[in-house]
This record gives sequence, C-alpha cells and structure tokens, in this order.
Amino acid sequence: MAEPIRYPETIPAMTEHLLERLSGVVPDYELALKAELAVEVNRLKRELGAVILGHNYMEPALYHSVPDFTGDSLYLSRVAAKAEAEVIVFCGVRFMAETAKILNPSRLVLLPSPKGGCSLAESIRAEDVRALRALHPGVPVVSYVNTYADVKAESDYCCTSGNAEEVVRELQRQGHARVIFLPDQYLASNVARETGMAIVFPARGAAGLARAADPANLTRVMVGWQGRCEVHEKFTVLDIARVREQFPDVVVLAHPECSPEVVAASDFSGSTTAMIRYVEKLERGRVLLLTECSMGDNIVARNPEREMLRLCSIRCPHMGEISLEQTLESLRQKRYTIDVPEPIRARARAALDRMIGIG
Ligand code: 13P
Ligand code: SF4
Repeated sequence: MAEPIRYPETIPAMTEHLLERLSGVVPDYELALKAELAVEVNRLKRELGAVILGHNYMEPALYHSVPDFTGDSLYLSRVAAKAEAEVIVFCGVRFMAETAKILNPSRLVLLPSPKGGCSLAESIRAEDVRALRALHPGVPVVSYVNTYADVKAESDYCCTSGNAEEVVRELQRQGHARVIFLPDQYLASNVARETGMAIVFPARGAAGLARAADPANLTRVMVGWQGRCEVHEKFTVLDIARVREQFPDVVVLAHPECSPEVVAASDFSGSTTAMIRYVEKLERGRVLLLTECSMGDNIVARNPEREMLRLCSIRCPHMGEISLEQTLESLRQKRYTIDVPEPIRARARAALDRMIGIG
C-alpha cells in the first residue's frame, strides 16, 4: 500500500498548493476559501486520529487537499481493510463506506453525506438475489461492490470494475459454466463478452425470473440483472462518433459501466484508476473520458499537458453530495455513522474476502 498523501498545514501554503494544481479548473477566489476548509479538515483529522479515503470522482478541491489515500473502489476497500486509524471518513458513496465498515468493523466509519446513494446499489434487494438463487441452484452469485451490505451477504463473491473479469475467470477455472452476476446489466455484458459467456436477463417479477430459469441449452451462461448506472448509461456511440469526427486523434476511454456498444467503440475500458493510469502513460495529448467529469479535472490537475474532452452535462449526483464543507462537519459532529448489523456484516465480509483472495 502507498504511503499516506501529505498536505501543507498552513492556509497560505495550502492555497499555493491548490492554486498550483487547480488554477484554471476552479476559480482562484474559491480555492482560497477551500484552502481554509482543507487546513481545518486536516487539523481535525489529526486530532481525532482519523484517515480520509477519497474516491477518484471527488470534486477537485477536496481530492487534492484532504484524502490520505485516493483511488478506485478496489484499492480503497483494500486500504479500509488495513486501516489502523480509529475513524475512517469515506469521501465517496454509501456502498463504499459500508464496504469499509464490513472489512474493518471496529472502526468508526463516517460518510459525510446522509444520502450518498447509487442507482446500481438501489436497483437490487436481498430478496431478488434469494429468488435468483432458488431458480439457479448451485450457480455462484457474484455481486458488484456497488451494492448494499444485505445484497453482498446473499452473494458468494463480490467484484469491482477492477477485477470483475478475474473473478468470473476464477469461477470458470473452478468448473462453473454458469454465473449469476449482479446488478449492472452493462458491466455483466462487458464481462460476459470478455470471458466468452452468453448472457440472459430476467425481466422483473416472478414471471420474468422464471423465464430466466432455463437459459436454453447454452453451456456458458451468465445470468444478469437490469440495473444501470444513471451516469454511464447515458453515453452513446453517437457521442463518440461526433467527438472523433471533430478530433480524429482523440483517445476514448470508457468505464465498464458503459454499454457494450460504447465500450466496443472506445480505445480502452477499465476501472477509474485503470483509466487514470492509461492517460498518464499516453505519449500524446487529447483524451475523451466517458465517466464522471470530476475525474477529468483531477487528471488534468496532475497532468496539465493533457487535453481532456468530457461530456459534463452528465454528472453523478451522489458523488457530488460530498464536499469539503460536508467533510468538515462530518469530523466535527462525527456524522453520518455507518453501521451494518453483525449477521449481515459477517456474510458480506465472506463475499468480499473471497474477492480479495483472488488478488
Ligand atoms: P471504480 O470501482 O472504477 O472506482 O468505480 C466505481 C463507480 O461507482 C463508478 O461509477
Ligand atoms: Fe453509482 Fe453511477 Fe454514481 Fe458510480 S457514477 S456512484 S455507479 S450512480
């Protein structure tokens, strides 16, 4: 694991640091205000013995001033599992903070927003997983980490966008020709294609589930669910075509929560951290990122020579809930506490541990 990120401790030094990173991305007068907040957040963080984890989608001023660790869901869950700090503040969404609590239950885990939802996590309930299991006895269930604890508890494995393919390949190696993969329709379709599986989707309700019970005579079959990310589902092949027409040299990167057509029309698809690494290794300049827009700002802040094209009318409202102001109040008031009932936590933990065990 990397060393924690260090930040300036005084307001003038923090202002200078933020101006150096973000001038041109965030107005300078706003950065001066953000610097004051960030210095106070970091002071309180030290006083309380807290650690702050920041997802790659955090707004630029927060991302570059307070998280001890930044990364994608997979990396941050690994950091959370090993965190020795008494308090973990998760600058991300609820399912991420819940994952931290599941992996490190003796810590006080705080989410700076009372909401911090996710359209994928909200698309499926524990009873849906139980119904699918009843229809496909013996078929292992893989749940995307973008689910709540009770859904993880009904699953055999979790996965993230960074290791979904690896988890399904491991199940194939164990001799499973069928896998239930929930709840992201598009991530499942992308992984099914990469791993040579056909995919079927139950329509909602008992009748629809029954139709998915017998996926014909297909041998390698993934049973999916029709959840979608409200951000990534909006990107289209036409968006890519239009940008390529105007900028023929553009390199297009799509998160695997985008549709299979969008992923196929892109040059690279991977987790948020995989996309950052890909951009940082590119020899030349112009990139189109099909993901939450803050990440483009965060990349440009560290790689000013990159020209980042984004379709910023599409934002994640849940990630956007988390601000420096909310993070400061979270530390001051020790809010909003994440709790997971023990029987659910223990079973969810087993699914996460199996994922982490895969590597
Ligand atoms: P990553 O696991 O790639 O960071 O993605 C999480 C997410 O919610 C993407 O929308
Ligand atoms: Fe959920 Fe999509 Fe937002 Fe990620 S971008 S947190 S998948 S709604």
